[in-house]
Amino acid sequence: MNKKTGWRVMLAGLLAAQCGLAVAAQFSDQEVQRGAYLARAGDCVACHTAPGGKPFVGGLKMVMPMGAIYSSNITPDKTHGIGNYSFEQFDRAVRHGVAPGGKYLYPAMPYPSYARVTPQDMRALYAYFMQGVAPNPTPNRKPDMVWPMTIRWPLAIWNWLFVRDTVFKPDPKQGAQWNRGAYLVEGLGHCGACHTPRGLFFQEKALSANGPGGHLYLTGGTVEHWYASNLRSACLQKTLSAQDFALLLQTGSAQNYTVAGGMTEVIHHSTQHLDHEDLLAMGVYLKSLPSETSAQVAGTQPDPAAVQRGKALYDQHCVACHQPNGQGVPAAFPSLVANPSVQCINPTNAIHVILAGASTAVTASAPAPMVMPPFGAQLSDQQIADLVTYIRTSWGNAAEPVSAEQVKELRLAIASH
Ligand code: HEC
Ligand code: HEC
Ligand code: HEC
Repeated sequence: MNKKTGWRVMLAGLLAAQCGLAVAAQFSDQEVQRGAYLARAGDCVACHTAPGGKPFVGGLKMVMPMGAIYSSNITPDKTHGIGNYSFEQFDRAVRHGVAPGGKYLYPAMPYPSYARVTPQDMRALYAYFMQGVAPNPTPNRKPDMVWPMTIRWPLAIWNWLFVRDTVFKPDPKQGAQWNRGAYLVEGLGHCGACHTPRGLFFQEKALSANGPGGHLYLTGGTVEHWYASNLRSACLQKTLSAQDFALLLQTGSAQNYTVAGGMTEVIHHSTQHLDHEDLLAMGVYLKSLPSETSAQVAGTQPDPAAVQRGKALYDQHCVACHQPNGQGVPAAFPSLVANPSVQCINPTNAIHVILAGASTAVTASAPAPMVMPPFGAQLSDQQIADLVTYIRTSWGNAAEPVSAEQVKELRLAIASH
């Protein structure tokens, strides 16, 4: 390099550093596209978008035991978004839960799972958020909390106790497909944020199948009065193959049954957009998890009078859609026979659906959701208990009966939400 060009290069460099545009165009379209796909896998849009708001502008209210917080603006706006974040700052916020200025984030942001994302994938995500998302100047909202709850430093201790800052390491005993599935489920997919039970300090009791407490990983948790199923129950594992898991994540339905509650949002925003190979890899991984030995078998026999009453109510209110034999109508009304939501798990979701209604996941393959009407206003706690007892113990289903108290408790919880 001669003296003259040397000067030119330096000048160009200075200009580029000064002019945001030149710096911003540093990523290839391919890198940005890959980042967009990974952002889908991480479902960033679900939390970083307010109802009716623009994607990634934040402002979604998240209620926690000590008050409510609002998700952040993660568009590349330089004042109100993350446009000034260096790669290292972005990585530290997303994987370690510490935003610039030492601001510790609440674990409503699933950084304990994102800690497993590889540096390569973090770079693609960064490329997407810097260059593939439109900047938006909406300021962040302050948490609805009173002092001293607003003090963030105790979160540093929480981090120290519960966050394992480890990038995913492939298990050499497993094949490439299994490892890809584990990487997606445990990392960006943050499936454990809902499906793993939480401890006293809101921490997930396990962050991976092979890590500490791994036998508890994905064994079920409660989210907004829905039960995020134990994905390792023997009963569920018997019903769904790896292909069924993939199909469910793509369409919201498999084996003629559908999912309801928060899972429909996960499918809508995230999993329906993933490649079939990735979904199948997730299915292969989920299918490999050792199931608990104590399958949900009915210990208590249902009261025959309750079953009788339940059948009469079913014939009156439910039979038109779910059919006399409980088989439903393919592609319209789910079957209640051998349905994991009905018989594999505790009755929370069956009761919730009957009380409050539900609608199936909206996906490219099923753009119009199928709707189950709510019955909470017209049926008493005892009537709903009888109905759930009936469907959980008929047509070959064999699960515990349900009491009016269980219905009452959930009804009150949903009403106070
Ligand atoms: C389950 C909800 C949820 C998901 C999913 C989620 N976030 Fe967040 N995120 C939050 C919340 C809530 C905050 C604010 C936390 C706080 O104020 O302590 C946050 C904060 C952040 C911040 C810090 C911004 C700041 O204030 O400086 C970044 C960066 C971020 N998220 C990026 C991402 C990316 C990238 C993804 C997807 C890979 C993602 N988030 C997925 C809930 C979520
Ligand atoms: C926001 C919380 C949430 C997240 C995140 C989440 N799930 Fe779910 N999931 C649920 C709930 C709630 C149900 C129960 C739905 C029902 O019974 O109809 C469910 C049901 C399921 C089922 C069906 C099981 C059954 O009993 O019918 C599968 C399979 C599943 N989830 C897999 C996943 C995977 C894989 C991920 C990560 C990519 C994931 N979930 C992330 C909340 C969540
Ligand atoms: C108008 C048609 C219709 C009627 C009437 C109806 N359902 Fe449903 N039901 C549905 C649809 C559609 C779904 C799927 C909802 C979803 O997955 O979000 C569903 C889901 C369910 C589920 C959850 C199954 C699953 O796979 O998640 C249960 C349990 C259930 N219904 C029971 C009943 C009972 C009991 C009655 C009578 C009180 C009833 N339904 C009446 C249409 C109906």
